Amino acid sequence: MRVAMIGTGYVGLVSGACFADFGHVVTCVDKDASKIERLKNGIMPIFEPGLDALVATNVEEERLFFTTDAADAIKDADAVFIAVGTPSRRGDGHADLSYVYAAAKEIAGLMDGFTVIVTKSTVPVGTGDEVEQIMRDARPDGDFAVVSNPEFLREGAAIKDFKIPDRIVVGTEDERARQLMRELYRPLFLNETPILFTDRRTSELIKYAANAFLAVKITFINEMADLCEKVGANVQEVSRGIGLDNRIGRKFLNAGPGYGGSCFPKDTLALTKTANDAGAPVRIIDTVVEVNAARKKAMADKVIRAMGGDVTGKTIGVLGLAFKQNTDDMRDAPSLDILPALIAAGAKIRAYDPEAMTEAAHLLEGVEFATGPYEAIKGADAMVIITEWDQFRALDFDRVKAALNSNIVVDLRNIYSPEDMAAHGFAYTSIGRP
Ligand SMILES: NC(=O)c1ccc[n+]([C@@H]2O[C@H](COP(=O)([O-])OP(=O)(O)OC[C@H]3O[C@@H](n4cnc5c(N)ncnc54)[C@H](O)[C@@H]3O)[C@@H](O)[C@H]2O)c1
Repeated sequence: MRVAMIGTGYVGLVSGACFADFGHVVTCVDKDASKIERLKNGIMPIFEPGLDALVATNVEEERLFFTTDAADAIKDADAVFIAVGTPSRRGDGHADLSYVYAAAKEIAGLMDGFTVIVTKSTVPVGTGDEVEQIMRDARPDGDFAVVSNPEFLREGAAIKDFKIPDRIVVGTEDERARQLMRELYRPLFLNETPILFTDRRTSELIKYAANAFLAVKITFINEMADLCEKVGANVQEVSRGIGLDNRIGRKFLNAGPGYGGSCFPKDTLALTKTANDAGAPVRIIDTVVEVNAARKKAMADKVIRAMGGDVTGKTIGVLGLAFKQNTDDMRDAPSLDILPALIAAGAKIRAYDPEAMTEAAHLLEGVEFATGPYEAIKGADAMVIITEWDQFRALDFDRVKAALNSNIVVDLRNIYSPEDMAAHGFAYTSIGRP
């Protein structure tokens, strides 16, 4: 099958490479010429474990191509995926659909023969109807179907998530489109991946409902952590104690600095806008959005308290900037709230992240970047862990002590045990643990 992928970002590139690996012939299109140029030279524009090898194999076997010319990719395609960004619209928090609609218009002008247009971008309910209308207006004679197929991959584990998903959701009422989608994902039926066919609007809402539910789980355990701190309980054991109940489940119950990333913040916000417009507010999500935003800011105060209440002129060594480990994605990362607040309070920041420093340098002013974790904390008055990269989980405590100018460690991801840290002489602050 021939696939065109419009938008070669985290989702477009991973999905395109994985579809090629299934045996389809995929052309990934992007407007960003430098991104396409790098891909043609085998250089990945993002950090995602395993992606470079997957891309290289499929390019070599002539199933994966990159271009800035949409015409080339679309004219022979059986399926054209829209995988462009849907960021928060400035000012009101609605999803900005301008990239999706621009892509739809472009596809309409270029498609040839029966074509299935698949929206993989996360889009509010009704966007598929609008895409269809735009295409119908542009090509009254066009033979096409518009399908919703939301993506659930997680950055950092994206290839595995795409190839071994919990489920595939497809929203369409068109029988030809349904057959084509089944054929596209056929390799996954071998491992009995459930495929849920539904109508387009329901499919669009499933994606937002899934992300919002996960954001609720994270925010719930974060508030439990705050309560634990007040009453002398241990949030990690609360997590385990409730997570072992199958109705609750153990995942997404790690207390931390608040959720960030390219999806949860914008998708929770967009869902509240859709719900308010529809006259059916989701008050639980309104609250989650508010609590999470306040939490990221409160983390700077937590660091300041751990450092004695005043950070004026003090240096803080920061480990981790990306919104989570195994990605270089800085979109809505908690570090973007925490570090400016610490700088405003008078602190100097020296930070290290294994992958996200290039991106962070565009977004964080006044931060000095270091070449490694020990360099970041050298002579610092405290070490603060913001992202849970594996390489920060087993630091050499003797080196940490020798590098630091104090014994203060603030761990916003609970990657160390309070007992161990105390035994090593650290003044250790974590989240929701005595
Ligand atoms: N990143 C994730 O983990 C994730 C997971 C699930 C779903 N999603 C959703 O997938 C969508 C894409 O997210 P992303 O993180 O991959 O975004 P991204 O910003 O990394 O990539 C989008 C790409 O689309 C390109 N683009 C925009 N308009 C174009 C056009 N008309 N023609 C060709 N290229 C165009 C941009 O240049 C950019 O490279 C969003 O709706 C997002 O919510 C993302």
